[in-house]
Amino acid sequence: MQVYSALAEKIYPSKLPIIFAITPTYARLVQKADLTSVANTFRQVPALHWIVVEDSFNKTKLVSDFLRISGIEYTHLCAKTPKEVTRSRGALQRNKALTWLRYMFNSGEAPPAVVYFADDDNTYTLELFEEMRYTKKVSVWPVGLAGGLRYESVKVNADGKVVGWKVKYAASRLFAIDMAGFAVSLNLILENPRAMFQVNARGGHLEPSFLMDLVKMKDLEPKADNCTKILWVFKIQTDKQVLAN
Ligand code: UGA
Ligand code: MN
Repeated sequence: MQVYSALAEKIYPSKLPIIFAITPTYARLVQKADLTSVANTFRQVPALHWIVVEDSFNKTKLVSDFLRISGIEYTHLCAKTPKEVTRSRGALQRNKALTWLRYMFNSGEAPPAVVYFADDDNTYTLELFEEMRYTKKVSVWPVGLAGGLRYESVKVNADGKVVGWKVKYAASRLFAIDMAGFAVSLNLILENPRAMFQVNARGGHLEPSFLMDLVKMKDLEPKADNCTKILWVFKIQTDKQVLAN
């Protein structure tokens, strides 16, 4: 969309490729703590646009107020997960953000940009964003504290091509990778308008349900020194505490 391209130039005079970070979020005790920690990271990343999608019928005051004073460029959306959807978490919200991106930009006219699905409870280092920024199609890297391992990673051969997965959980998946371990160029998303997350996918099958419509394994771009560095993103479960007051 022309209007948005003009806006993007105004907001991001640096001409860096834009990072669209898509974050599903839902009301719970640790929500504000989680959002605060993610925002404190995102605020330091240049040319980042945060798409926050609440799992609710209406936008809440808590998240609206939080975003307004966050100091981060953002778009605030909402999409309530229906009761029948019991398996995947955040799928409908990510699809809502993909629809927004496809509405805002025409294929072939979008500014250079990359899309990252950043859950609200993970910990992200700043280096991560600078590597993913120049993604051509789909880039990948290890995820710390994921899938019952110190880190999940990908197998990279001597030619720098991805040839498999280093995971414990459901290794036979077409793309055995956590949501935090890949980013997709905006162009690829616009060129494949039907690529979406399968809303009732089994655990771990959400990521492949989206990636299989976009890319083949051989086209993945390994980052983090051919996936040898594991200090970039960590999956954290903040919601497992029992609080007495
Ligand atoms: C793992 C993956 O890392 C997620 O990206 C994936 O969506 C999920 O499994 C799945 O396949 O269901 P996990 O840590 O188990 O993640 O999930 P959460 O962090 O609890 O949820 C993922 C995202 O969805 C979070 O940003 C969370 O705020 C949001 N969410 C969760 C909702 O919007 N609604 C919910 O009811 C639950
Ligand atoms: Mn999580």
